[in-house]
Amino acid sequence: MSASEAKIPLNNGLSIPLLGLGTFVEGHAVRHFNIGVHMSEPSQSEQIKTAVEIALDAGYRHVDTASIYFSEKEVGMAVRSRLEREDFTRKEIFITSKLWNTFHDPADVRPACLESLSNLGLSYLDLYLMHTPMGFQNVPGELFPRKNNMILASNVDYIDTWKAMEKLVDEGLVKSIGVSNFNRSQVERLLSVARIKPAINQVELHPYLAQQEMVKYCQSNGIVVTAHTPLGSPQPNFEEQILLDPVIIAIAEKNGKTAAQIILRYQVQKNIVVIPKSLTASRIVQNSKKRHPSLLSIFRITFPINRHGCESPQLRQKKERR
Ligand SMILES: NC(=O)c1ccc[n+]([C@@H]2O[C@H](COP(=O)([O-])OP(=O)(O)OC[C@H]3O[C@@H](n4cnc5c(N)ncnc54)[C@H](OP(=O)(O)O)[C@@H]3O)[C@@H](O)[C@H]2O)c1
Repeated sequence: MSASEAKIPLNNGLSIPLLGLGTFVEGHAVRHFNIGVHMSEPSQSEQIKTAVEIALDAGYRHVDTASIYFSEKEVGMAVRSRLEREDFTRKEIFITSKLWNTFHDPADVRPACLESLSNLGLSYLDLYLMHTPMGFQNVPGELFPRKNNMILASNVDYIDTWKAMEKLVDEGLVKSIGVSNFNRSQVERLLSVARIKPAINQVELHPYLAQQEMVKYCQSNGIVVTAHTPLGSPQPNFEEQILLDPVIIAIAEKNGKTAAQIILRYQVQKNIVVIPKSLTASRIVQNSKKRHPSLLSIFRITFPINRHGCESPQLRQKKERR
C-alpha cells in the first residue's frame, strides 16, 4: 500500500487517509481577506486546482481545505473533474473543511457548512473542523473583525458551537466532526460534554513543535491527530527551516530520501495524519512516496528539545537526574 492510500480508523467507525494535500495558499487567501469577496485571481486559483488534480492523479485521496483559505471552489472543481472521469467514487475521497471563527454562533454553523458544501459542489463533507476554539464576532463582510486594531472576540462558548456541529452529523451534511488548534484542556472540556466525540484534532506539528503530551492525550482518548504545517511552512530567507536542518538532511542522505519525505514519514509512523501543501508537481508526488526507514528512535535521540521552547519528557528526566 502506498503512503497516499494508507488509512487510520476514526472513533466513529470511519477512517481517514494518513496523507492529504493541504490547500492553504497564503497569497490567494490574503487577497480574499482584503477584498472580502470570493473573486479569484485567475493564476493562483488555477494553480490550486491543478495541484489538487495532480495529487489525485498521484494517488492522494484526502484534501484539506477551509472556508478561510478560499480554496474550496478550486478543490471542488478538481475533485469533481476526477469523479466525473470515474477515477474514484465519492466514498473513496476524503474532504475536510473548517468552520471559520466568525461563525461560532450556533445559528451560523449550518449556513457556514452549507456555504462550504456549495463552494465545493458536494453534498457532504467527510470531516468538518472547528478551525480554532476562539470565536470572533460575526460582523458582515469581516473575517477578522477589529476595533482599535483589536480582534473583536465573540462570547460564544465553543461547546455551544460544537452542539450545533453535532447536528450537522445528524443531518448527514458531514460524516465526522473535529476540532483544530485546541489545547489539551479545551479537548478535555469538550470530551466531558460531547454527545459526538471529536474524531480529529488538527494542530501544528513537526519535529520543531512535537507537542508530545497533547498527541498522547488525544490518541489515548480515541482522537486522531492531524499535523498541519507538517513541513514547518518553509519561508525563503527564514533561518530556522526544518527542511534545512542538518540532522534531518543527514538522515535523508543516509536513507536516499528527501528531508520532506523524512519529516512526513516521521509523523505517519506515529499514526499522525499529514497534510503537506505544495503547488509544485514534483513535490506533490515526492511527498506521497512510500517505504521510508523507521525513524522513531532516530528522532527521539536527535530531537530531545522542542525548539519552540518546550522541553520533551526525556530532556526533563535527564535534567532531574543531574
Ligand atoms: N488548522 C489550521 O489552523 C491550519 C493552519 C495552517 C495550515 N493548515 C493546513 O495544513 C496545510 C499545510 O500547512 P502549510 O501549507 O502552512 O505548510 P507546510 O505544508 O508545512 O509547507 C508548505 C510549503 O512547503 C513547500 N513544500 C512542500 N513540499 C515540499 C518538498 N517536498 N520540498 C520542499 N518544499 C516543499 C511548499 O512549497 P510549494 O508550494 O512551492 O511547492 C509550501 O511552500 C495547509 O495547506 C492547510 O491545509 C491548517
